[in-house]
Amino acid sequence: MPEKPERPPDPAYQKARASEPSSTGQAELASYGGAAVAPPKKVTVPDVVAMKRDGKRITMMTAYDAAFARLVDRAGIDVLLVGDSLGMVVLGYPNTVPVTMDDMVRHASAASRGATRPLLVGDMPFGSYQTGPQDALRNAARFLKEAGMDAVKIEGGRETVDTVRTLVDNGISVMAHVGLTPQRVAQLGGFKTQARTARAARRLIDDAVALEEAGAFSIVLESIPARVAAIVTERLSIPTIGIGAGLDCDGQVLVLHDVLGLYGDFKPKFAKRYADIGAQVESALRAFDAEVRAGTFPDAEHSFTMTETELDALRQGLARPKAV
Ligand code: KIV
Repeated sequence: MPEKPERPPDPAYQKARASEPSSTGQAELASYGGAAVAPPKKVTVPDVVAMKRDGKRITMMTAYDAAFARLVDRAGIDVLLVGDSLGMVVLGYPNTVPVTMDDMVRHASAASRGATRPLLVGDMPFGSYQTGPQDALRNAARFLKEAGMDAVKIEGGRETVDTVRTLVDNGISVMAHVGLTPQRVAQLGGFKTQARTARAARRLIDDAVALEEAGAFSIVLESIPARVAAIVTERLSIPTIGIGAGLDCDGQVLVLHDVLGLYGDFKPKFAKRYADIGAQVESALRAFDAEVRAGTFPDAEHSFTMTETELDALRQGLARPKAV
């Protein structure tokens, strides 16, 4: 394993972000225009591949709308994934299977309006690529043409190799995804750790190698033993991005709603909760509820006024019978 020191914060990026005067994209551009500091450089597919070569750890985070995508961008995350986890954490399904291309395109285009700097990856939902490379090509093209994505992600091993090759040959960069592939949750019998036997681990390693050979530029390793992920990472020249796959992957990804405590009490073992925003939201909503019921909101500060003269004129007008 090459050593992967922490990436030093990019001073130009921090400075540009710190000088943002308001939350609108317009103001952000204006501040870049007037400042001596250039806007942070867009992360590209070759940049992500080069990070492995340079021993730099890659950060990836999901987001599904413009508001959170903007925060992911501001935090300096390298890759923004519009994951089909959308189905669970935003749309309220029990798993990702029901998610459609239209759902993904709608949310991916919102995310791309919020984030410009990270590499933007759209997740191909269940049924959008399994029917063959041509369907996959048509659907993947929607992510680039309609949603502003830079690349797509596809779950699966050797059975997706032809599809990956077709997309890459036609100019669409592909992130692969092996290990726990949530679109197969029914077949797998639940969200279970994969590749725990020598035989299953060997199969996964062979899949990963085949996906690299087919042209994938990176690969997500989900819920597999850390030692297996380390072997895959060593064998591939493309970056591995782990979720529940240990420290030796080239990068790490988490689902935003797990990180922020926005997905109820469900927390997979691998998901670290860095904040409990859900509790804060609930307490704010309770305060609103209590103030409305008590008649203390809205107060003068949150209400509009009119002059006494206008009010008198209104009252006098109302006192006169209306002409028919
Ligand atoms: O859909 C998703 O969010 C994902 C990540 C967990 C990698 O596939």
